[in-house]
Amino acid sequence: MASPIGLLSGRLALVTGGGSGIGRAVCHVLAREGARVVVADLNSIAAEETKKYLDDMGGRNEHLALPVDVSVGRSVQSLIVDIRGKFNAAPSVVVNSAGITRDNFLLKMDENSWNAVMNVNLKGTFLVTQAAAAAMLDDKIPMSSIINIASIIGKTGNVGQCNYAASKAGVEAFTRSVSKELAKHNIRCNAVLPGFIETPMVHSVPDKVKEKFKALIPFGRMGLPEEVAEVVLFLASDRSSYVTGNCIEVSGGLAT
Ligand code: CAA
Ligand code: NAI
Repeated sequence: MASPIGLLSGRLALVTGGGSGIGRAVCHVLAREGARVVVADLNSIAAEETKKYLDDMGGRNEHLALPVDVSVGRSVQSLIVDIRGKFNAAPSVVVNSAGITRDNFLLKMDENSWNAVMNVNLKGTFLVTQAAAAAMLDDKIPMSSIINIASIIGKTGNVGQCNYAASKAGVEAFTRSVSKELAKHNIRCNAVLPGFIETPMVHSVPDKVKEKFKALIPFGRMGLPEEVAEVVLFLASDRSSYVTGNCIEVSGGLAT
């Protein structure tokens, strides 16, 4: 891990999906840079594990693990209420990393798999962004940054992922629209589009399919969650103060 330089000193960050994979790595990197981190996840045990790791990193910052189902409006509302109750302020950094796959071929895709993926990946990003932005405005946070984890698949499409690809293309369009609305409030909104990253999400992909993908990646390997997290850090910090409405690919050059 890179050496800390305090890029997020004094900031409060909320990371959904912080219990695993990319979200967990984002929590580590943001905490390393001095942020207090709220780890929010459907899996409360996993969220607590991430928080314990942050606590064990040392430093004086207090971190918090909270359960949330990002696809349910009232769960998201209580998350924001709990954060403001605990820290007396809205987060100034929000990372929407919670996401799921329910892969199948179009002709076998059932309605539940379509709905589940849309509800978590797209509606969840909407619900958290809306609730967090309202709280940022209420609390007059001077500069904020929202980062949505989309996917390179939203651009390329993928066999077996019509639901997922559509949800992630939606997250890109959502990000661009929201960035235009929120700029006047000094809230930036960007997306990161990872390629294939070594996390539990990819474990279910059949080996033969993984090999097909690796052959298409110029770097010849999958990415690490930390390699995505460092780009999220750039977007979270004031180093990107004039960047909004962008979708940055972190894909090892996987062609779009
Ligand atoms: N690209 C190319 N070929 C694929 C493919 C893909 N994504 N997915 C499946 N195929 C091919 C298989 O290689 C296989 O080819 P052969 O007949 O030549 O052997 C054929 O389709 C049938 O595949 P299965 O035998 O696996 O069919 P199944 O009905 O048992 O399962 C499936 C279908 C659920 C779609 C399964 O193949 C699968 O999980 N595929 C992978 C889908 C995928 O790429 N998911 C990415 C998850 S990671 C992620 O989403 C994060 C991100 O943003 C990148
Ligand atoms: P992961 O499966 O390791 O982590 C996802 C986390 O989201 C889990 O902790 C899970 O409990 C949580 N989650 C799921 N549903 C939730 C809900 N309704 N409410 C709250 N939390 C919920 O997956 P990974 O790989 O870390 O994915 C993170 C994000 O990155 C996802 O949005 C994914 O689509 C995206 N992504 C992942 C890529 C990869 O190759 N791993 C590539 C491109 C994008």
